[in-house]
Amino acid sequence: MASVRFENLSRSFGSVPAVRDLSIEVPDGTLLCLVGPSGCGKTTTLRMVAGLETPDAGEIWIGEQNITKLEPRSRQIGMMFQGFALYPHLSAGENIGYPLKVRGVARGERDKRVAEVAKLLDIVPLIHRSVQQISGGQQQRVALARAIIQRPQLYLLDEPISSLDAVLRSTMRGEIKRLQKMLKTAMIVVTHDQLDALSMADTIAVMKDGVLQQLGSPDDVYSRPANTFVAGFVGEPRMNLLPASIERRNGQLGVRAGEHWLAASEQARPELEKAKADRVTVGIRPQAVRVHRAPAPERIPARVYVAEPEGSRVIYEFRLIDEIFKVESDPELRLQMEEEVFLELRPEALHFFASEQSTGGGRRIA
Ligand SMILES: Nc1ncnc2c1ncn2[C@@H]1O[C@H](COP(=O)(O)OP(=O)(O)OP(=O)(O)O)[C@@H](O)[C@H]1O
Ligand SMILES: [Mg+2]
Repeated sequence: MASVRFENLSRSFGSVPAVRDLSIEVPDGTLLCLVGPSGCGKTTTLRMVAGLETPDAGEIWIGEQNITKLEPRSRQIGMMFQGFALYPHLSAGENIGYPLKVRGVARGERDKRVAEVAKLLDIVPLIHRSVQQISGGQQQRVALARAIIQRPQLYLLDEPISSLDAVLRSTMRGEIKRLQKMLKTAMIVVTHDQLDALSMADTIAVMKDGVLQQLGSPDDVYSRPANTFVAGFVGEPRMNLLPASIERRNGQLGVRAGEHWLAASEQARPELEKAKADRVTVGIRPQAVRVHRAPAPERIPARVYVAEPEGSRVIYEFRLIDEIFKVESDPELRLQMEEEVFLELRPEALHFFASEQSTGGGRRIA
């Protein structure tokens, strides 16, 4: 068991920089989620760690060993590939034991280890079944069992649950997290789904266009997104982002968005004061907005554009300064389309980012 470290890892395909100057450390026994939109370089990163892709620059370390130039089979890595493929002519158990067979592990030992991981993943009754006759979710577990049977120093799982339906996904998130905690081995899980990352990870690495945007705990990434990209990517519905400018009113520091003025919190004021640009982007999560039926000076009037009930919550959509603005509310509120309400954007709930046009491209101010 060991920690894993990438240092200034880069890889291009022709003129496409798939991964740029990536430096991340995954402490021993922890789970890192590599998350980002399609094409941001997640699989390329994993393939470099596994030795299936050669970096143009940078180093990969497992513990005290530099593995950058090591043969893939000498790396002691268990991998589950994106769109994993099971061997269709083999049973589930034979699939799981395959990596051991390749390494010449004797039949008896193999069967013992297959039984162990099958028990861990709750698929003992499937061992003798053909993989063509089990469900997608069961196949996914078999693929996972095959990846973990080797007891490597590091696990790499590329989109291990992306093809599952919502219920199974949610179950498997918990399963993978629990499994990782039981194995006590570093694991890197790639996903394009921010909820997977928030719910499973000890550390989240958010990538965009091959570049690391933020590295932090799920709470860091959710509560203090480093830039407007992370702010919009993590959290659902996405954070509302409005163009604004820094403006004082009655001596108090805040921002003006359209005709609305919003006070900055005491915490945010010194940072806003220091900000060079006066154009900013102000962000607030749909869960942080409070909806009132009565007006008050600091409340913003808005008309319900559409209501989207989701059972345990309702998402109300508004238009604020020509931008879609979403608010999450409990179902009791029962607002109607076109109803006028008053939105409270508390100073403590506001995030401030440098405006995209200014230098810094959307980085967090406060
Ligand atoms: N073998 C290759 N040859 C050429 N370009 C490649 C190759 N592999 C990846 N790329 C390019 O590198 C970039 C990163 O690809 P990668 O597969 O790492 O993305 P990803 O984050 O895993 O995306 P997805 O979520 O769709 O799996 C993309 O622009 C992709 O088109
Ligand atoms: Mg991929």
